[in-house]
Amino acid sequence: MSFLAIKDVHHTYFTKVSATTALSEITLQVEEGEFVSFLGPSGCGKSTLLSIIAGLIKPTQGSILLENKPLSGAKNQIGYMLQQDYLFPWKTIEENILLGLKLSKQLNDETKNAALDLLKQMGLNGIEKQLPKQLSGGMRQRAALVRTLATEPKLLMLDEPFSALDYQTKLKLEDLVSNTLDAFGKTAILVTHDIGEAIAMSDRVILFSPSPGSIHKVFPMPDELRSLSPFKARNHERFSSIFQTIWKELESLESGKE
Ligand SMILES: Nc1ncnc2c1ncn2[C@@H]1O[C@H](COP(=O)(O)OP(=O)(O)OP(=O)(O)O)[C@@H](O)[C@H]1O
Ligand SMILES: [Mg+2]
Repeated sequence: MSFLAIKDVHHTYFTKVSATTALSEITLQVEEGEFVSFLGPSGCGKSTLLSIIAGLIKPTQGSILLENKPLSGAKNQIGYMLQQDYLFPWKTIEENILLGLKLSKQLNDETKNAALDLLKQMGLNGIEKQLPKQLSGGMRQRAALVRTLATEPKLLMLDEPFSALDYQTKLKLEDLVSNTLDAFGKTAILVTHDIGEAIAMSDRVILFSPSPGSIHKVFPMPDELRSLSPFKARNHERFSSIFQTIWKELESLESGKE
């Protein structure tokens, strides 16, 4: 039994004038504690698949099982950080990061302190009482990440969480997120456009091809890299050859576009 099983998922978006098939024949299993990344050209359905796994979109066909149970019973166990930060503008950062805990009735002194501590670790000190608009885009994104991690979901889904960050912050947060997930044995799916990030953080990299979105190739990462922190993995001697392989595959997909 897999922790997460995605079975033959198809999804078509219908509007009044058009039908766009975003995903076709997606079958994938993710094991408990595993970290997988979704990589692929823009528009190949990565965000759509995350929204389906999170139960926000019902697929036109196929099913999702979390610990062998249909998704409807599992919503609270999934943490989903959307591609755009979605902090509530009228709430302070503290209120924002505690919101998930409050909604899932897990808010107490212990969980509150853990969330505030995580905020500090993310380099966000002393901004608890500020409003999102007083923060930079990268700071908002880090706060959104704290909110997602605070509820300690069983399955964590991150849609390009580091894309608005400067390079140095991004490398630091990759390590922080990776350590946090390892410590709790969490399962995670990361959507990224950064091949290096996918290699450095993942156990497996899933490459999607467009029109319609489908799984093109799966790259298991070697144990030597998986055992290292993302920062160290980026400096490992095997990193660059894996990078080249995935880069070429991605290039061939993008040049195949009309
Ligand atoms: N709400 C929607 N209504 C209609 N079509 C949609 C909707 N959301 C996405 N699509 C279409 O579905 C396809 C997949 O979109 P999706 O956002 O899942 O791609 P993506 O891989 O996440 O892209 P990106 O890398 O740019 O974030 C695209 O063709 C997009 O135009
Ligand atoms: Mg997307």
